[in-house]
Amino acid sequence: MAEENTTQNDDDLTLQNQSSSSSTTWEYNTWGNGMSILAEDQLLLIFMLLPIQSILYLGMTCKRFRSLLSHSDTLWESLCIRDWKFQDLGVAADDDDDDDDVDCSKLKKMYKRLHQLQSVSCRVLSVPDPDVYPGPRASHSLNFLSGSLLFLFGGGSDGGRHLDDTWIGYLSNDLKRILKWQLVNTGVPSGRFGHSCVVICDHLILFGGINDNGIRQNDTWVGEIALHETLGVTLSWRLLDLLSVAPPPRGAHAGCAVDNNRMLIHGGIGLSGLRLGDTWVLDIAENFAFGTWHEVVGHTLPVARSGHTLTYIGGTQTILFGGRGLGYEVLNDVWLFDTSEGQLRWVQLLYELGNVPDGFSLPRVGHSATLILGGRVLIHGGEDMYRRRKNDFWVLDITARSIKMQSTSTSQRTGTHMWRRLKSDGFIPNCRSFHRACADNSGRYLYIFGGMVDGLVQPAEAFGLRFDGEHFLVELVI
Ligand SMILES: *[C@@H]1O[C@H](CO)[C@@H](O)[C@H](O)[C@H]1NC(C)=O
Repeated sequence: MAEENTTQNDDDLTLQNQSSSSSTTWEYNTWGNGMSILAEDQLLLIFMLLPIQSILYLGMTCKRFRSLLSHSDTLWESLCIRDWKFQDLGVAADDDDDDDDVDCSKLKKMYKRLHQLQSVSCRVLSVPDPDVYPGPRASHSLNFLSGSLLFLFGGGSDGGRHLDDTWIGYLSNDLKRILKWQLVNTGVPSGRFGHSCVVICDHLILFGGINDNGIRQNDTWVGEIALHETLGVTLSWRLLDLLSVAPPPRGAHAGCAVDNNRMLIHGGIGLSGLRLGDTWVLDIAENFAFGTWHEVVGHTLPVARSGHTLTYIGGTQTILFGGRGLGYEVLNDVWLFDTSEGQLRWVQLLYELGNVPDGFSLPRVGHSATLILGGRVLIHGGEDMYRRRKNDFWVLDITARSIKMQSTSTSQRTGTHMWRRLKSDGFIPNCRSFHRACADNSGRYLYIFGGMVDGLVQPAEAFGLRFDGEHFLVELVI
């Protein structure tokens, strides 16, 4: 039972004096006495090896540690980088709340808020000019680029048409409004949906998709963006010169950028209509002049699927989640693709749905999965095996899982920490699937566009679904 208590407290950055933890406190006390003779930089080094809960325990053992914990920006900066993968510490700077505790480190507060992340807030992005607007669509691509631009390409729309338009959305300085949409390109690449498009060093890389005739593609495109003083932003698409054979044609696969010069794809629906389970990596060389596709082979690979997601979470790690499997079942498995030490390998991160509060609603296909501040993945919407669409928000945090695994040798009850369902306030989005989402550079704001929503296609029909053109902003409430 004691372990159960600890589990619950992990969601809170405060510690309670439980009788069951007295032996632990004693242990830290003894340890703390020995540690108190160490210099501050040595202490910080030791703290950095400990999970956050142990650091907080130590803070209770003596005045010196307590003061270090409440005043040391160095410590909290290091912890923010370690646990939340902060790259840009400026995110904590716009701290605008009423400061009743001026002594408390800003980064400590930021750490605490991220630790306690409970909800998101949604808001519709108004259309500046209803005549110039990328209309309703699903299975398109949406990317955030150059600090304040959204790029949207293709997708399926009413009447089975597959779009070939590229749009740029200009965001306001505070990134909370669309200033204008501009149609920058049509016809190239050819119309398609279910392609994947990623950002690598301010370039777009697009692969595959399904065209108007239902034909699956395996072409690889580069979109070059240029900022002109007079013309504004321009985009030119060209086929990437390949030094190898491309992956077999497909659509509804998952793709993401894995570092500064690689794109990863997995699965999708192939030529014969069969779901695929292969993994490929595109290496880009010579400043986007050439690319080489390699197939990743290994003993363990995620099973064949479509409509799943790949999300790069920093360092050498990428997360795969969900999708629809070979038997048309809807999946909820989580896989980690790791490129450390030059090796490319898949590892499944096991958890039990039953251990996750509300976990039985997790299996899904056609959801979005976006990297947010803190190295975590925000999952939204999608549909279940009965094709019921959703509008829920979940956070997937694989680091919470590994800390738990290391600190309690007996714990096989993983999952409780890996998943958390968030509340949402403000605008309530329609339940949707096959929408697209992207985050800004701070990872605090997400833009979601389109998808399939429940709705009347023909007034005569009792129920149906329609392509949606709604565009909304999701803000982490921290
Ligand atoms: C696309 O796939 C086909 C069939 O697998 C293959 O023959 C062709 O070489 C591929 N295209 C490219 C550009 O590699």
